[in-house]
Amino acid sequence: MADEQDLMEKIVSLAKRRGFIYPSSEIYGGINGFWDYGPLGVELKRNVKDAWWHDIVRCPAAGPDGRPIQMVGLDCSIIMNPKVWEASGHLSGFSDPMVTCKECKRHMRADHLTMSLVCTVSAIPDQDFAAEDDALEEVDNEPTGEGFLVADGATIEEIQAALRRRLGSKRVKIVLRGQAMFAQDGNKNYFLESGYNTDWPELANLDSRCPHCGGELTPKRQFNLMFKTYVGAMEDSSALAYLRPETAQGIFANYKNVLDTTRIKVPFGIAQIGKAFRNEINPRYFTFRSREFEQMEIEFFCHPKEADRWYEYWRDARFKWYIDHGLKSSKLRLRNHEKEELAHYARACADIEYEFPFGASELEGVANRTDFDLTQHQKFSGRDMTYFDDDTKERFIPYVIEPSGGVDRATLAFLCEAYAEDEAPDEKGAMQKRTVLRFHPRLAPVKVAVFPLVRKDGMPEKAQAIYQACAKHLAAFYDEKGAVGRRYRRQDEAGTPFCVTVDGQTREDGTVTVRDRDTMQQVRIPAEGVLAYVRERLHI
Ligand code: GAP
Repeated sequence: MADEQDLMEKIVSLAKRRGFIYPSSEIYGGINGFWDYGPLGVELKRNVKDAWWHDIVRCPAAGPDGRPIQMVGLDCSIIMNPKVWEASGHLSGFSDPMVTCKECKRHMRADHLTMSLVCTVSAIPDQDFAAEDDALEEVDNEPTGEGFLVADGATIEEIQAALRRRLGSKRVKIVLRGQAMFAQDGNKNYFLESGYNTDWPELANLDSRCPHCGGELTPKRQFNLMFKTYVGAMEDSSALAYLRPETAQGIFANYKNVLDTTRIKVPFGIAQIGKAFRNEINPRYFTFRSREFEQMEIEFFCHPKEADRWYEYWRDARFKWYIDHGLKSSKLRLRNHEKEELAHYARACADIEYEFPFGASELEGVANRTDFDLTQHQKFSGRDMTYFDDDTKERFIPYVIEPSGGVDRATLAFLCEAYAEDEAPDEKGAMQKRTVLRFHPRLAPVKVAVFPLVRKDGMPEKAQAIYQACAKHLAAFYDEKGAVGRRYRRQDEAGTPFCVTVDGQTREDGTVTVRDRDTMQQVRIPAEGVLAYVRERLHI
């Protein structure tokens, strides 16, 4: 846990230091839940979006029947007629349960608080054991009738502070045994059992205090996540509008336009990448839960009888896309939703989850949304949303399969996966710690960096010429300042797959060195072959 927290801190710090991601409006103290992408970050994020757009819209793979998938793109406005959000259900239902602390005024998502139950135990076991049910049975625990709330992902120190407040003792110390958590207060021992307070209705009566300061919490209330704004000069209810909380509704609202203006036929998909806004109660885990973020969504329209097949196809294809771009399959998992978890209109849903340093969380959801959205828009707009199949003479409202992913979450996952520490020799041959981002070549912000060894003897001119030749075709970088070893290290931290150095030998035989980011091996090749060398190895 501490290691993982440490790892996340290192990634956030590297992201800031090397210009991947900055806190938004930092010079004014920042603003919670908003982030800016710096020079390297904007390239990385663009590469994620370009890879998705290429693989989904420009060059889609074959579908489950072996035929090419029909897919077109859209770019809809962020502010739409508010009726859209009435039809979609966002006005009435897009909310989270919220509680506020009357003392420290913090707002918290009620379903993100964990209830810890305090039980007395006679002794804290010496040996390590996992928190398996049968192992815990060995612990003779009796509930004391006391419980306290902690925020999800709370550190040991935060849990200890909450428990000290609850028990009114400053001496309480947390003791870990395997995955089980105990506490010790002098010669009194406690076992801490935890679960979501919403999952534990029997704990609802326990005195729930603010996990941060111990203050009294307000009762739960529903909080709509849509940002409001006004369109035009009047700030009254007739001018009220919303920043879209998802890109999907723009696709549904344009489904008929696309059908009428293209020659596309069911089954087909409409894809969109764009900003979405949610006034999240607790933005956190870096960019993972932001208030402004980007989505990459597909709405795939098919015959209701074909929907199960297309659902399985998209679920598996999207899962594979992340593996193909460098996420280890052992850190990815497909979590099929249980029936009880499904939205009332959905027939099936699966989350593609990645094991971030702060825990396994959703990257993308794939859902069979049935004909719910088009039926709703037909009802609220009065427009006919049916599709007429010329071949079968059948008229129907298509079912929709929706793979809906977050650009920022995917970018963060690629960043976490790429982060590695190893050792590299410095100028004197002594091994030094190295931080390297091992990005998939398609995603690496810079593909090749070109250096002159020193700033004399015509080396900068030669290096500039190589850089210019590369920059016409791929993201290249030129650097002539500082020791060459340090320049390599900077590129390792940026995730650049190749560094090319012009040195004394270049003038003699026209060759340069090419250093590989991952193996750190160097080879000599003719200067005019650099572009072809890099392209061949990166498959770009
Ligand atoms: N149209 C369906 C839809 O919007 P969602 O699960 O609410 O479904 C889809 O969002 C994806 O958008 C998520 O899997 C996640 O990657 C991304 N996403 C959602 N909320 C986000 C937030 N607050 N910050 C960053 N990404 C978010």
